[in-house]
Amino acid sequence: MKLNLGCGSHVPDGWINVDYALGARFVKLPFFSLVNKKLKLFDMDWGKKIYLHDLTKKFPWDSSSIDVIYSSHTLEHFSREEGRTFLGECYRVLRKGGIIRIVVPDLMHNVIEYIEGRIRADDFLELLGVLYGDSSNEMKKKLAPFYKYPHKCMYDTPRLVTILNEIGFQASSRGAFDSDIEGIRMIELEGRTEHSVIAEGRKA
Ligand SMILES: C[S@@+](CC[C@H](N)C(=O)[O-])C[C@H]1O[C@@H](n2cnc3c(N)ncnc32)[C@H](O)[C@@H]1O
Repeated sequence: MKLNLGCGSHVPDGWINVDYALGARFVKLPFFSLVNKKLKLFDMDWGKKIYLHDLTKKFPWDSSSIDVIYSSHTLEHFSREEGRTFLGECYRVLRKGGIIRIVVPDLMHNVIEYIEGRIRADDFLELLGVLYGDSSNEMKKKLAPFYKYPHKCMYDTPRLVTILNEIGFQASSRGAFDSDIEGIRMIELEGRTEHSVIAEGRKA
């Protein structure tokens, strides 16, 4: 069993693609897609095949039942404590020797861009992802806190690798597509690997 945690719209076959976005929940309601086409509340085309679960809560899978966990650009949406709980749950459900691969935006990259003057202060904040983003649509602006997930924590390579090792994984930094996961090119998106921290490890 392979989990893709915080899948967004990327739902490759052969994976249990998990998310809890409002759009992914609403799409299961009859006629919602038609209503959304008219109101354009959600830009994303949420698939009906997404397994719904709030990843800040205990996972619904048995201990040591999962072979591979992949999670891209999701951990940073959890607070530091929620992130620890999430990674602890990943450890619990992975089987011995199972693989975990986590991809997050690289805080170090953003800071260097700012310090070296390549981006302005407001662009730096935008890159940090802690804001709800601009929208000219007043209704969307008001509803943003209910359906948008700004970043609550950020990581650099040494910090993420250390946390994974503290939890009990044998983890290290990896490059894009450099992975022990079979068929990595099906799950990893090139654009998501740029300016990102990529850490992979196994449950010892
Ligand atoms: C930036 S998107 C990443 C999507 C995709 N993995 C990618 O790399 O393009 C973050 C995803 O995490 C999901 N997410 C945020 N908080 C969550 C939670 N508590 N439980 C489940 N999914 C969550 C969001 O709904 C969103 O789809």
